[in-house]
Order: sequence, then structure tokens, then C-alpha cells
Amino acid sequence: MISFQESKTKENLMRAFAGESQARNRYTIAADKAKEQGMYAIQDIFLYTADQERAHAQRFYSLLKDLSGQTIVVDGGYPVDLQETLEELLRAAEHNEKEEFENVYQEFGDVAKEEGFLEAASAFYQIAQIEHVHQERFAKLAQMIETNTLYESGTKTRWMCTNCGYIHEGNQAPPVCPVCRYEKGYFIPLCLAPYFC
Ligand SMILES: [Fe+2]
Ligand SMILES: [Fe+2]
Repeated sequence: MISFQESKTKENLMRAFAGESQARNRYTIAADKAKEQGMYAIQDIFLYTADQERAHAQRFYSLLKDLSGQTIVVDGGYPVDLQETLEELLRAAEHNEKEEFENVYQEFGDVAKEEGFLEAASAFYQIAQIEHVHQERFAKLAQMIETNTLYESGTKTRWMCTNCGYIHEGNQAPPVCPVCRYEKGYFIPLCLAPYFC
């Protein structure tokens, strides 16, 4: 069995830590963009996802504990996602999540398994599944913006105000929340609302 010091897994864990750390920052920067455009619920979703990327970063980083004090040199390619519109930012995020889920973490998991680092392998595989959920959520939001269905629907739909929790039923989100008076950008279709099932 290969030593951790000489493994590719050591490098892949550092690459994953770097990638997750950047994803976290990209999403907080995208969240600022959403806020600027009055899309407060989408701002929340970016921040919520950013926190999960932080948790992934922490998990990968913790698996490097035995090498504390060392420096690991790696190469890597990282996206520049400074697009102006929210749908472009959401589509870029979707693309990156898909890459992680379909390619990068599968490969890192397979290498870790081959090298005999089973805990790292399962972290790569498990986190890949979470990135899949991220991918689907970003895709759904992008599609809603592209088709103008984030605040409007052809049928009776329920929308939640993410500030106060008020639920509105109708063909569109109200321009202003009748309870807390926050603007439409706080509303989200109930299927995307947090802690609701
Ligand atoms: Fe992640
Ligand atoms: Fe993610």
C-alpha cells in the first residue's frame, strides 16, 4: 500500500479543499450580485450553498491532518465566473457542480480507493452526491428565471416570503408581502422554500 505522503490522494484532497474554498467565495460574490438585483431569496440560496461548500472544504481539509505543518503543491484549473446576469451565474454554478459531481470527485474517489484511502474515497463519493443536488437546484432556478416562472405561474401556486414565512396562493407572487411589507424578491415558490415539505 502506498504511503499517504506519496499518494495522489493527498494532492486531490488539497485540490478539493481549494475548489470548495473557491466555490464558497464565488457563491458569496454571486449572492451580492443577487442582492444588488433585488433577488433576495436567490441571495439566500447562494449563501446557503456557500455554507455547505465550507463544510465540504472542512471535511477534505480534516483528512489532511496527518500532514499538518507541511505545504502541498498542486496544479489546478478554476473557473472565472463574473458574469453579469443572474441566469448566467446560476448556469455557471450549475456547470461547475456538474463537473465536480460527474467527473472530478468520481475520479478522486476512484484514485483514493485504488490507493487504499477508503475514508477519503467515501468523502469524495458522498460529497459528489451533494454537488448533484446543488447542480439540480441551480438549474431549476436558472430555468425559472429564463422562463419567467420564478414569480409567475400559469397555475395556482404557493409562494413563501423568505423574510416572514407568509404563504401566498395565486398565479403570481405578490409585489409586496402583505405581512412584513418586504418586496417580491423575498418570495420563492414553496417547492424551493427551506424547511418545508
Ligand atoms: Fe462542495
Ligand atoms: Fe456545490
